[in-house]
Amino acid sequence: MNVLHDKLVIASNNKHKLREIREILGTRFPHIFSLAEIGIDVEIAETGATFLENARIKAKTIVGMTGLPALADDSGLEVCALNGAPGVYSARYAGEPCDHDKNNEKLLKALEGVNDRRAAFVSVIMVCFPDGSEVYTEARAEGEILTAPRGTGGFGYDPVFLSKDLDITFAEATSAQKNSVGHRGRAVNNLLKLLEI
Ligand code: IMP
Repeated sequence: MNVLHDKLVIASNNKHKLREIREILGTRFPHIFSLAEIGIDVEIAETGATFLENARIKAKTIVGMTGLPALADDSGLEVCALNGAPGVYSARYAGEPCDHDKNNEKLLKALEGVNDRRAAFVSVIMVCFPDGSEVYTEARAEGEILTAPRGTGGFGYDPVFLSKDLDITFAEATSAQKNSVGHRGRAVNNLLKLLEI
């Protein structure tokens, strides 16, 4: 099934996600557009209770506005000792607007004195098409939360997340390393398989 026509819009204003998704899709899909590139300035309310619901809301909104296939990522960090929090609320864990430094401070405080540091990043990638059909996939990256940030790359919780696969934080990893074992890299690669691209 090769249903991606010739254009795909990435339904995200997050420049870090956009960069990662472009890098992962690479040259396999040349006609990728950000919202800015097609002149769309929209803040989509993420009112869903799950990553899947939020990914669908974002992708469907952009299909409705553009008439083009749209790819959305909804992702977050699930911490075992916090019963899966911050989860779908990862971006706004320390309040709105999203402030990554405050989110990391709040997380480290919540885990002060906690021995169980296990956590996972989760990404749901959804592509919706103008005919109403959709394809989606979910992937995880396992790791643990450090007691202090390490590294300057990446974004969000990357400096406090020690990757089980890499044994360094995602903020210490190169983007190629992060993409090879990260939740978004795995999810996008699963999606390409599903779409047979
Ligand atoms: P979304 O826009 O609702 O999907 O928010 C995703 C939020 O989850 C981001 O703002 C980050 O807080 C967190 N997050 C998702 N993926 C990553 C990642 O790859 N690294 C670090 N934080 C991430």
